[in-house]
Amino acid sequence: MSLIPKEVVDQVLVQADITEVVGDFVSLKKKGQNMWACCPFHHEKSPSFSVSPAKGIYKCFGCGKAGNSVQFIMDVEGTSFPEAIKYLAKKYSIEVPEDNPNPEYAKEQSERDSLFIVSDFANKHFQQNLHAHEQGGIGMSYLKQRGMSANTIKKYELGYSVDEWTDLTDAALKAGYQQKYLEATGLTIAKEDGKKYDRFRGRVMFPTHNVSGRVVGFGARTLKTNDKKSPKYLNSPESDIYHKSNVLYGLFQAKQAIRMQDMCYMVEGYLDVLSLHQGGIENVVASSGTSLTEGQIKLIARYTENITVLYDGDAAGIKASLRGIDLILESGLNVDVVTFPEGEDPDSYIQKVGDTAFKAYIQEHSQDFISFKTSLYAAEAKGSPVKKAEAIREIVASIAKIPDSIKRTVFFRSCSLIFDIDEQVLISEYNKMQLQDRQQQQKQDGPEHFMAPPFAEPEPEKPISDMDMLKRYEREIVRMLLNYPNRVLEEGMNTCQYMLEQLEDVEFRTPLYARLMDLIKDKLCDGNLATAEDFINHPDQEIRTEATNLLSDPHELSHNWETHHIFVPTESDLLPYGAERAVLRLKWRNVELMIKGEMEKLRLVTDPQEQIQQLTFIRNLKTLHCQLGDMLGIVIG
Ligand code: CTP
Ligand code: MN
Repeated sequence: MSLIPKEVVDQVLVQADITEVVGDFVSLKKKGQNMWACCPFHHEKSPSFSVSPAKGIYKCFGCGKAGNSVQFIMDVEGTSFPEAIKYLAKKYSIEVPEDNPNPEYAKEQSERDSLFIVSDFANKHFQQNLHAHEQGGIGMSYLKQRGMSANTIKKYELGYSVDEWTDLTDAALKAGYQQKYLEATGLTIAKEDGKKYDRFRGRVMFPTHNVSGRVVGFGARTLKTNDKKSPKYLNSPESDIYHKSNVLYGLFQAKQAIRMQDMCYMVEGYLDVLSLHQGGIENVVASSGTSLTEGQIKLIARYTENITVLYDGDAAGIKASLRGIDLILESGLNVDVVTFPEGEDPDSYIQKVGDTAFKAYIQEHSQDFISFKTSLYAAEAKGSPVKKAEAIREIVASIAKIPDSIKRTVFFRSCSLIFDIDEQVLISEYNKMQLQDRQQQQKQDGPEHFMAPPFAEPEPEKPISDMDMLKRYEREIVRMLLNYPNRVLEEGMNTCQYMLEQLEDVEFRTPLYARLMDLIKDKLCDGNLATAEDFINHPDQEIRTEATNLLSDPHELSHNWETHHIFVPTESDLLPYGAERAVLRLKWRNVELMIKGEMEKLRLVTDPQEQIQQLTFIRNLKTLHCQLGDMLGIVIG
């Protein structure tokens, strides 16, 4: 990386206004001396990220990130110091010598920089062609016919390569650029006999930018719709600045929207990106025809953990998305899927139905990956136990890729509901797979390879404190109680009666849930069934918040299922089963904690007679624990 002159750095530091710089990424609100926003570096619901215009710094009281304008750009863009200075210089129109296409200067730059510079020249040249060259009108009318607005054309720097052999090469050489860089970027193709010609001729040009906005390569579409001889798209070859597996088309233009929406739409083609962006869906990027790579997912992960994949409805599109999904899951991100009607891609569909209907469509057809994959397999699994087993294995294999054990647990639960199969069956399938994987690994790594214990329901393998685990089970009870208080579970018994009776002598240990249980009982004493709505205006903030959370907990499955004519039970349908398991789990947990406590006490007992009594008590508890475990289908090792 070349040195940026000190004067430039100083000028940037003087001119950069922290509120303007930060304001490009988050919306700041003034409160007292400072400005506040939700932190762009970690997920939060209430603002703890502050900017002090007077001091020229930002600080997040949540995650601790702090610094000046340059540091902010480095943090938010994940770039180096020089890249951040260049970014700010561009924003404040401060000239950085390196970006000056002076041929003398270009020669002195490192190879990579020369490639950037020549790509930038080509990009400007193609844009000039589109707007000013006598052949430019052909490209322009094609873009208009594809529905592209002047704004979109400008924002994505679309261009046109005229239909001549050496238009770009001649112009670049004349301006003093060296042929070797034209060749290294693939813009010029040189033959052995010394003849040279432009790679891109008579095509609409789509420049691809890296995250800091520099052009690294091009995609070029032919205007001939039915020419079988030349490919529809030509792309720049790999070069020192263009690694296809590490760039995403449109990310530069989309990254701010991705961060703001905390979600990224993933499409396949250049025109899919442009049409969606133009339709107001700005958080969209394309993998440009290649299958998604880990590098590309890491790029997105800088801005959000949530990806929604929009793919064509054909079989190839769906297969491609399955591979991508597994990769996204392995990277620890969340993924939803939307498919389009047969023969449509996102571009054609938005052009056909319009922005509003398109947005409604993706809202309605967005499925979490379990639902998506299940719907693919469920149809063929219908009526065939063998197929069903295969389908379940397929889905468990995908769930197994999720690194986060809590997320895995959630997906196991939803899969168990969809297939109406006990969670434990899924878990043991998962354990088998893990074991096979490890044995495979062991064969490769030798016998001393560490062997971790398999996953045992319901505890995820990451250490979670006993109290946290208990809290989850207690929350589950309260959630069901408040969401379905008067659903009849069995003859003459509703949720409220059932739970309160079953848990009569169970003390809730999480103070918040103990209080909620008391409130529910109080209400019942007054002859009312309490619902979460009763508490969302409670004077106590903690109760209000939790009631809101409990009420909005999305346990309902997607309605899509109905349109696919696949019956999927909702939580409400399965409530008798769910409520029983929730009660059993909480009891099981409580007994386990009691055993731990009594074991502690045992260590303090010295009198042999008392020891025997205590041991008997513990043994009884253990029997009870086993019985509860049996009822839950838990095998205790
Ligand atoms: N692609 C490519 N080379 C090809 C064909 C496709 O690089 N020969 C890439 C392009 O990035 C293209 C994407 O794959 O945008 C999707 O291809 P396809 O679905 O065939 O094209 P569309 O994007 O639908 O193109 P258009 O709408 O312009 O016909
Ligand atoms: Mn298309």
